[in-house]
Amino acid sequence: MVMMASCMTSAEGAAMNTRLIDGFTRHHRTLDRAFEDARQATGDGDFVRARAAFQGFRDAIERHMGAEETWLFPAYEARYGNDNALTSILRKGHRDLRGFFEEIAEALDEGDGDEGAALMDTVGQILHHHDEKEEQEFYPAVATLVDDPTPALTALES
Ligand SMILES: [Fe+2]
Ligand SMILES: [Fe+2]
Repeated sequence: MVMMASCMTSAEGAAMNTRLIDGFTRHHRTLDRAFEDARQATGDGDFVRARAAFQGFRDAIERHMGAEETWLFPAYEARYGNDNALTSILRKGHRDLRGFFEEIAEALDEGDGDEGAALMDTVGQILHHHDEKEEQEFYPAVATLVDDPTPALTALES
């Protein structure tokens, strides 16, 4: 009886955790595609398309980072403290990315394709490592701490 009860509890938890992990991981891939569109247009020297594509990517990743900062980082920090290594690194990643986004927008506004492409290469690398750390370490850990991931998942799409 005891074993059955414990199995049921962990099965319910697993279903809930999977929703959070899958939702945020899937959204990383959506962001990857939007970023590639902007990168492609920049490479083509089509700045009207590049500016629109980059703005679309930027809006979407701001929703994503905002959802992490509003719902996920605080849940992890409530358990492991504000100065834990993991969310400190991830928060710094968001700050760095936002700095580069501003520089990319300026380069595209000025029609500087070389500068835009170089900045996008750097962002692509930062983003890759950031997303990998979230998918391998952070999401699995925080998924055990968030009771209901629905508000965070909804925030990705709104
Ligand atoms: Fe993030
Ligand atoms: Fe993320």
